[in-house]
Amino acid sequence: MLFLLCVMLWISPGFALDGDIGKFWQLSDVHFDPDYSQHGNSKKQCHFHNDSSGDPGYYGNYLCDSPYNLVESVIETMRHREAEPDFILWTGDTVPHVEQKSLDDVLRLISNVTTVLKDAFPNTSLVPLLGNHDAFPSNQMPLVESGTHYYDDILTKGDWSQLLEKQEQAQFQKGGYYSRIVRQGLRLVVLNSNLWYSMNKKVTGNLDPNQQLAWLRQQLTDANTAQQKVYIVAHICPGAFERLQGMSWFYPEFNKRYLDLITEHAATIAAHFCGHEHTDSFRLVKDKQGVTTSLMYLSPALTPWKSPLQGVGANNPSVRLYHYSRSTSNIMDYLQYYLNLTLANEGPGNSSGGLDNSSEGEWQLEYQATQAYAVTDCSPRNFNNLTRTFHTSSIQFKRYMDYNTVSYNNSAMCGHSCFINQLCAILYVDINQYNNCMFWSGTTPQPHTRTQTYHPTNTPDHTTISPPHTTTHHKKHHKPYHLPQYVFYIIGGMGVLIVALAVAVSCLCVRKRRRGMPFKYSHFVGPINS
Ligand SMILES: *[C@@H]1O[C@H](CO)[C@@H](O)[C@H](O)[C@H]1NC(C)=O
Ligand SMILES: *[C@@H]1O[C@H](CO)[C@@H](O)[C@H](O)[C@H]1NC(C)=O
Ligand SMILES: *[C@@H]1O[C@H](CO)[C@@H](O)[C@H](O)[C@H]1NC(C)=O
Ligand SMILES: [Zn+2]
Ligand SMILES: [Zn+2]
Repeated sequence: MLFLLCVMLWISPGFALDGDIGKFWQLSDVHFDPDYSQHGNSKKQCHFHNDSSGDPGYYGNYLCDSPYNLVESVIETMRHREAEPDFILWTGDTVPHVEQKSLDDVLRLISNVTTVLKDAFPNTSLVPLLGNHDAFPSNQMPLVESGTHYYDDILTKGDWSQLLEKQEQAQFQKGGYYSRIVRQGLRLVVLNSNLWYSMNKKVTGNLDPNQQLAWLRQQLTDANTAQQKVYIVAHICPGAFERLQGMSWFYPEFNKRYLDLITEHAATIAAHFCGHEHTDSFRLVKDKQGVTTSLMYLSPALTPWKSPLQGVGANNPSVRLYHYSRSTSNIMDYLQYYLNLTLANEGPGNSSGGLDNSSEGEWQLEYQATQAYAVTDCSPRNFNNLTRTFHTSSIQFKRYMDYNTVSYNNSAMCGHSCFINQLCAILYVDINQYNNCMFWSGTTPQPHTRTQTYHPTNTPDHTTISPPHTTTHHKKHHKPYHLPQYVFYIIGGMGVLIVALAVAVSCLCVRKRRRGMPFKYSHFVGPINS
């Protein structure tokens, strides 16, 4: 009897009553370009030029940013599929990649999209945040002590005062970040992580730009005291880019300090949500013991814009709907919607595509996480185990790779080095650990060893395109390479010696070991700590 009771208590939290499942959208990297012209030149951001030729497309073009038709259609599909979500995360980069002429242009664009979203979801809690392209000039996110009026302008001329409560506005003015308790037990901590972005030159020499780290620490402490769970929402996530070797986003010291902070408060944080990469990926976040305690969800972009960085490519337009437990704040599932841009541009009204002519266009479900990855829910443990099954030729990994570009680059080859970069980026948000992972994996060749296998497609003429998230800041770290055989013998010999010593020492002392355990390099063949 007691046993039965225990069993029931044990399984009951796993039971999600209907009313317990809440939904929220994430819309990221809109990059709305009002100068997009259907009669423009796709090699010149689809802007109209004298030499314009061809038809860049009704819903957009892989070489360009989002036309209004695309913005309108994504809002239509959101309203059609879930018109009353609990809230909407709008995770930055609303402004196009092409450098704007003035701050006023930036503010006008942000205001336009704010109005469109507010009109479409008048009764929904909208959670806006800043992306690196929303600064002027892009990437240069200012310090408050410089006397900037940027953050005030975003509220007034950018119209975010319509979306933020008075006290949130007061907080936002102090650095572009704020928090919101969206329901009992759930606090959204909305960051301006662009301050830590390595292309932001305005923060050099500053240990805690706009005192955001100190504020974040206080938020996490407060949430813990109030027994709330936290969703961290930001434009840029820390860690490395899974599609380019050795490229990380934050300044190294900010990556470390930020990661230390979220590691320390791992028990309070239920999930992290970001955009910026334009790709579909995730990261495992671990506590001090190395147990995966939460996931960073990297949602792909609305804009299909193709990065000039070789091997990064384009993506289909996307928007994502999460299912979460209102009682535990755990993420249960998510539905990734996308627009097959090629197909959509064949319409509207083209019967071969089975189109209806509504402005919703061709939006369809790309995948549902639990089904695609064969997991019961999106628990950190399940995704940790999923990552363990990844292998160059595993079905799950191939699916992940298709989704990584929002089905733009389906069935693309991902050989050894591509695979290792993907895996190391997912496993290690810490840059040293990521570098070690890349380095050591390169020394253990696997059967499917291939060199870089992405098919570079025609690169656009980007002489006039402003740098993407990162063009110039391409940090090279250790690349995998093969060491001569004798090095292994030396390392092996030293290893044996160390093990023998360790055994001897542990026999002598009854002390606890573990403390100085070296970093484990063999994750790809052995089990990943869960
Ligand atoms: C929003 O709420 C108002 C007042 O409660 C209601 O009249 C209106 O129909 C709602 N709008 C939508 C789109 O649900
Ligand atoms: C998208 O549409 C194009 C054109 O119809 C088609 O060739 C392609 O296979 C489609 N992609 C996906 C992922 O369905
Ligand atoms: C699509 O447009 C055509 C012609 O404009 C119209 O006859 C048809 O009813 C429309 N279909 C839908 C699903 O709206
Ligand atoms: Zn972006
Ligand atoms: Zn960005």
